[in-house]
Amino acid sequence: MSIISTGKGLNKYDVHICGNTIPTSQLNRHIGLKNKVLIVADDGIPKQHITKLKKLIKNKNVKVFIFKQGEKSKSFKTYQKITNQLFKYNFDRSDILIAFGGGVVGDLTGFCAATFLRGIKYIQIPTTLLSQVDSSVGGKTAINVPQGKNLIGSFYNPSYVLISTFFLQTLSDSQYKSGLGEVVKYAFIGNKRLKNIIQNNANKIVSKDENILKLIITESIKTKSKIVTLDEKESGIRAILNFGHTFGHAIEAHHKYKDISHGAAITLGMIIAARVSFYEGHISEKQLKNVIEIIDSLNLNSDFKKYKYSGLKKYMAADKKVSKGKLNLVLIDKNFKAFKTSNFNNKNILKAFS
Ligand SMILES: NC(=O)c1ccc[n+]([C@@H]2O[C@H](COP(=O)([O-])OP(=O)(O)OC[C@H]3O[C@@H](n4cnc5c(N)ncnc54)[C@H](O)[C@@H]3O)[C@@H](O)[C@H]2O)c1
Ligand SMILES: [Zn+2]
Repeated sequence: MSIISTGKGLNKYDVHICGNTIPTSQLNRHIGLKNKVLIVADDGIPKQHITKLKKLIKNKNVKVFIFKQGEKSKSFKTYQKITNQLFKYNFDRSDILIAFGGGVVGDLTGFCAATFLRGIKYIQIPTTLLSQVDSSVGGKTAINVPQGKNLIGSFYNPSYVLISTFFLQTLSDSQYKSGLGEVVKYAFIGNKRLKNIIQNNANKIVSKDENILKLIITESIKTKSKIVTLDEKESGIRAILNFGHTFGHAIEAHHKYKDISHGAAITLGMIIAARVSFYEGHISEKQLKNVIEIIDSLNLNSDFKKYKYSGLKKYMAADKKVSKGKLNLVLIDKNFKAFKTSNFNNKNILKAFS
């Protein structure tokens, strides 16, 4: 089991990463024995996981709230349903929420915790690979509104994060690959050790080998944690976590957020961004090939050619990475370090798509 301490000052919290066996002492210490607990989950997580979690918790005042799975539930309506439960059970500031599921559950539950009585404790137990390596760490909580995704929210750290590879065994192939997209992102934006692990163990990653999963999750969290701790409110370096996301978000929007997972879209976005990096002279042809080889070795889709810049441009203009009318891109350099820039030749974007 590895433990990564993240966050700053009073907002510090531990992220525990374990294999298929889940240690419970820290979990129970964070939950406490006497206070009330509400587990929030969606109806897409296999029931056996909820039963298992309830068994691991010693506290006897545990309630479970389940909402309909899917991005649509990350709404005011579900927010109200959850907070209504908290009022119904007379939750106070000593009580605790547990977000048990993917990023939708985590973002929504985190936002309830951030705002209920101006803030109560919550624990993240992420169960998708994407939420394990990305959304459960960094304290971003949010709901969607008709005006856009994640536009209402706050930065509010959990008090504890527990990650077990056990839950990943039931994930769909597409969900698993979506999370792998974010894992390779950390390898491309600076985590050399992770890049080596992936290059040497692609088959084990594809077959969800417990030990390798533990390693790649730990390395991913190390990178995310380092970056978000340096820039808690996303005003600077945190932008490099968006490598592949400007093009990836445009691809998701082009598909109307259907038929393609977030990770699959950003994987294609990373290839396009790596190609821009190559045409801008920041990486060599060999390094560009290396990016694509890594993606292919994990059986992730690398076929970016069906997308045209002309078709995606309008979505990129609406992206929040456009500031003062100029598009910002996150590119990579020859040391596989990411950097944000608005200084590039538009012709190289066109070339990157061809
Ligand atoms: N806060 C952040 O920093 C951050 C970062 C990245 C993404 N996000 C958010 O995360 C969300 C996407 O998260 P996601 O990809 O985890 O999607 P998700 O939460 O919708 O989960 C995907 C599906 O997997 C199911 N599921 C969950 N655990 C399972 C398991 N162990 N076995 C089988 N099925 C399981 C869920 O029921 C759901 O149907 C988006 O809303 C996005 O905005 C937030
Ligand atoms: Zn992402």
